[in-house]
Amino acid sequence: MRILFFDTHRYEKDVFRAANGEHGHDIVFAEVRLGPETAGLAAGYDAVCSFVNDRVSAPVIRTLKDGGVRAIALRCAGFNHVDLQAAAAAGIPVLRVPAYSPHAVAEHALALLLTLNRKIHRAHARVRELNFSLEGLVGFDLCGKTVGIVGTGNIGRVMCRIFRGLGCQVLAHDLYPDGQFAATEGVRYVSLEELLGASDVISLHVPLNKGTHHMIDAASLARLKPGVILVNTGRGALIDTHALIHALKKKQIGGACLDVYEEEEGVFFEDLSEAGISDDQLARLLTFPNVLVTSHQAFLTTEALQQIAATTLSNLSSLEKHGVLVNQVEAPPAG
Ligand code: NAI
Repeated sequence: MRILFFDTHRYEKDVFRAANGEHGHDIVFAEVRLGPETAGLAAGYDAVCSFVNDRVSAPVIRTLKDGGVRAIALRCAGFNHVDLQAAAAAGIPVLRVPAYSPHAVAEHALALLLTLNRKIHRAHARVRELNFSLEGLVGFDLCGKTVGIVGTGNIGRVMCRIFRGLGCQVLAHDLYPDGQFAATEGVRYVSLEELLGASDVISLHVPLNKGTHHMIDAASLARLKPGVILVNTGRGALIDTHALIHALKKKQIGGACLDVYEEEEGVFFEDLSEAGISDDQLARLLTFPNVLVTSHQAFLTTEALQQIAATTLSNLSSLEKHGVLVNQVEAPPAG
């Protein structure tokens, strides 16, 4: 297949080239994101490969269809950036990578939490300036604390095990609680309200959809224990950023670890060190000493990249060679 990759970066090209050895697809890497202005570039390609901050809207899908594109391959798990109804109407299947090293994401979430709680980022900057003072660096033991995991799919389950290993009580919330998992791992499923009110650390691992959009808003922030640390490696819009900033200013919460941000498109993955940013909310977030932001990098391990490349290319090979749709994302019922 001729495949046009959008929003590609140096760190992934070699991994895809290596994985493509056994598939023999004709791959072209574009650095621009897929959107209304760039969709026309895909004319004449069999498939496009898209990443998390592309905008695969209805007009984009129409342009892809007009250009002869037969498949949209997502090299990620989330699909909130794709208009699935429009893709179904156009007869273009959307394929994804449903699971790839959940450990990559879970371990990054843990790294953010440990860094923020033990103030490693501040200590590192300090000692490099030969300031060996410990003032302001007090953290808390995680052992014995209550951690709330929202979403116990692939990543959330790894998080539950990690925190059980650290000696924490783990509360979980999911639309579909798994009683057997809870019993085996010593995890207790509770309502979202109970989890929010009882946890010292809360980590979000649900997909972004209508039911989860702004699940952490002013009302839910008001319910949290004082001092709670919020970790979001899910999707930015799970949290109402405006309400989060308000809660941080009022010192209602202890801190936030954010690998995702609701307006990250066009900012994350870019080097804006000279241009600066025009997003005042993000700029404000970056001023809090108790907020840690990474640029949607939780997936970024060698193992995860290799699995993403292997699954993405074999999804397309199955379609090309056998006409079989593997890892297809079905459109939800309209309405
Ligand atoms: P998964 O599909 O295995 O698990 C999601 C879980 O959320 C399921 O158990 C589901 O029942 C639950 N859920 C869905 N809606 C819910 C709701 N309204 N209330 C409560 N529970 C709900 O997904 P996985 O692999 O664990 O990934 C979770 C999310 O992490 C992805 O959707 C994606 O947005 C994000 N992600 C972020 C990455 C990063 O680099 N920061 C990398 C990979 C995934």
